[in-house]
Amino acid sequence: MDDDEGRNSSAVVQVDVVPGPAPGPDTLRAVGIIDFRPRQSKEAAAVAAVAFAEDPIWGHTLTDARRRRLPHTILLRAQLRTTQPSHTIRVAKHGGRIIGLAFWNVDGATKPHESAAATDPRVLRAARTMMRRAGRDRHTLATMCTALAESYPCDNGWFLGTLVVHPDHQGTGVGSALLRDGLARADTNGQPVSLQTSTAKNVRFYERHGFEVTEMVDEIYPGAPPLWTMRRPAAAVGHQA
Ligand SMILES: CC(C)(COP(=O)(O)OP(=O)(O)OC[C@H]1O[C@@H](n2cnc3c(N)ncnc32)[C@H](O)[C@@H]1OP(=O)(O)O)[C@@H](O)C(=O)NCCC(=O)NCCS
Repeated sequence: MDDDEGRNSSAVVQVDVVPGPAPGPDTLRAVGIIDFRPRQSKEAAAVAAVAFAEDPIWGHTLTDARRRRLPHTILLRAQLRTTQPSHTIRVAKHGGRIIGLAFWNVDGATKPHESAAATDPRVLRAARTMMRRAGRDRHTLATMCTALAESYPCDNGWFLGTLVVHPDHQGTGVGSALLRDGLARADTNGQPVSLQTSTAKNVRFYERHGFEVTEMVDEIYPGAPPLWTMRRPAAAVGHQA
């Protein structure tokens, strides 16, 4: 156990994760789902950047592969550093490294982009830096950010802002473990959970965890990729994968 886990052992959930598509008993590895620490912001944001490298929304918005990392390496990193009571952030660790992240907005009364983590001066500064570095893509980026902000569901429950697993560990159960960990907390608090996603594959993944599509927008703005909004009612016992 490292410092993070040792200092808050009650928050550790130990899960067996099977790497690879055809696992054998000898390939079992232990992954810890633990509370995030602000000093892990850079590492966690880097995992998000690489996980979202092929995401249709960011691929459409930021055509240059290096710029595509900006929403995560700059903006998400600043949001992670600015931990607020309005958020619950959990990470999956393996071999001392962060391999996954779940970022939940638990203040249902406030839209994510209006939350304290989004309006903190350090986050606003990061947003300006991100826009500046987006170069020729900055107008598309601004349009996408506005479209996303306007499309957020607001139903007074939890909102799963970010769920990512490093590509080297995807398809091994880490994402499901992070999701189940947060959903169990939402259930304990009697909260429904909403999220938005931009791939049909993710829609199927979330459906397996009890989410249903509440809205599908073909183009979040003219020419942009589709966006699905999904919701899982509180305490959907028996729906979890
Ligand atoms: C979406 C994401 C978080 C899922 O994380 P993950 O760790 O790959 O998820 P899991 O391994 O738990 O499950 C993924 C699939 O692998 C399957 N799977 C899990 N363990 C497996 C194993 N050992 N062998 C074979 N398949 C396995 C699951 O059944 C699941 O199938 P499904 O999608 O058809 O339901 C991850 O793929 C990711 O980071 N994607 C890029 C970023 C992104 O799109 N995030 C979501 C934004 S809303």
